[in-house]
Amino acid sequence: MKDIIKVTVSAKQVDFGRDSADALAVGIFSDVSGMDKLVRMLDKAAGGAMARVLTAGDFKGDTGSCEVVYTGAKSGPKRILLVGLGKKKEVDADVLRKAASVVARRAVAAKVGKLTLALQKAATRVKPEVAGRAMAEGAYFGAYRYDEFVTGRENGRLRKLAVYVGDDSADAVTALRKGISVGVAVGEAQSYGRTIANRPGNVINPPTLAAEARKMAAAHKSLKCTILDKKQLTAKKMGGILAVGSASASDPRFIILKHTPNGRVRKGAPKVAIVGKAITFDAGGISIKPSADMDQMKLDKSGGVAVLATMKAISELNVPLNIYGLIPSAENVLGGSGYRPGDIVTTYSGKTVEILNTDAEGRMILSDGIAYAAEQKCDIIVDIATLTGACMVALGSHKAGLMSNDDGLLDDLKKAAEESGEKVWHLPSGDEYADEMKSKIADLKNIGGRWGGASTAAAFLRQFAGDARWAHLDIAGMDLFAKATSFAAEGSTAFGVRLLTTFLMNVAAGK
Ligand code: BES
Ligand code: ZN
Ligand code: ZN
Repeated sequence: MKDIIKVTVSAKQVDFGRDSADALAVGIFSDVSGMDKLVRMLDKAAGGAMARVLTAGDFKGDTGSCEVVYTGAKSGPKRILLVGLGKKKEVDADVLRKAASVVARRAVAAKVGKLTLALQKAATRVKPEVAGRAMAEGAYFGAYRYDEFVTGRENGRLRKLAVYVGDDSADAVTALRKGISVGVAVGEAQSYGRTIANRPGNVINPPTLAAEARKMAAAHKSLKCTILDKKQLTAKKMGGILAVGSASASDPRFIILKHTPNGRVRKGAPKVAIVGKAITFDAGGISIKPSADMDQMKLDKSGGVAVLATMKAISELNVPLNIYGLIPSAENVLGGSGYRPGDIVTTYSGKTVEILNTDAEGRMILSDGIAYAAEQKCDIIVDIATLTGACMVALGSHKAGLMSNDDGLLDDLKKAAEESGEKVWHLPSGDEYADEMKSKIADLKNIGGRWGGASTAAAFLRQFAGDARWAHLDIAGMDLFAKATSFAAEGSTAFGVRLLTTFLMNVAAGK
């Protein structure tokens, strides 16, 4: 895949007064008046230009804000970017990550190709290693845009952004560098995922997604890729995936990625599966969706793409854990060969499901993916899916729904969410919800009652996980930005890549 924008991030020791970057970004707090040591020094060299901006009150230091100051100085940086870090006591890795995104996005827009970040100098509460990782992830996130199919108009735009995290302390540079190496792997995977997810349904369908997975795996030594096509799905009786994919001219696929790390795995480490819903377009099937915003359903593959990109990241980081990345993929459209309301489908697990709504298709393909993970004797299964509009109604676009059958796993995912800045909120999925999913003429039905749709969907999935510790991330509403923000382009967010990578790294480390 061609880079949409080539981002590089590295650490370097700098003398801030002499740094020759096109722009130097420094952090400013909203609740601290006066300048810190670094800003004061830069201000002096710039003949008081920054003090003028700050005292005029044009820039308040709120998160998400950024103001350019032209120094006019003969040496040192030409531009200083004042970047809001919000309240001093609230600064954490996520504040730095977002701030780095804002700066990178600004830099790309202004065609500033070389950028030095010194945000960590203000954020002394964040450990340099953590700060380095967060800023690298943020730089990738902010620099990203999706214009693969725009011809001509975008020719003059920036194609390369070199980001340096600058520090005057050699010790800090060493620690920053360590964090940056992780942040770069995660950032690259995230951008990769955003591009695959942003590609429309006429470009990415189950076979082309499978081909992309094969290509990615071929470039990563730890990954083995097996793809089940329609014939093999039929032979294996993966009835959930087959039913959902039955109307489409593009046949369904089941993508199986297996990561075997180079070197030793911690004794007693669990075998983990991450399972992602990859509906390459969700028209709803016979239970057709309303046409408004239906185009956004090209992003209904976001869970599967998050799994694909996470596998890339953990392979590059050589995470010492045996990990399955499972991606059931189908296109949910209408056609004479499609599945219908009233059908009874036998899933891979052997459980039968009465279909009452063909638009509740995600759980059908996931049931086969989760059952496969259970069959492989995975100790932990985490699935991720743009599963229900109900989750979006409950949580909006700020947090993903998290359901689980295990309190320890819940805590571990909450911790990973905190560290990665990809937020989650625990919702229930117990037996009272599972009861709503019982059918009179089959083992299960694929929809529950009118209320609590995110929880009934999760309670359905839970029943395919066997004895494994299982968790479910409902990322409906988190998969895309409908409009651009100061820190992100519109379109896919690749939500889940940072969260899952962080989670898997923690599990590998026994943390
Ligand atoms: N892909 C949708 C869920 C979705 C909706 C994701 C909006 C992102 C934004 C899913 O397949 C779906 O259609 N779910 C139905 C389930 C219902 C029929 C029980 C829904 O949420 O309406
Ligand atoms: Zn649907
Ligand atoms: Zn869907």
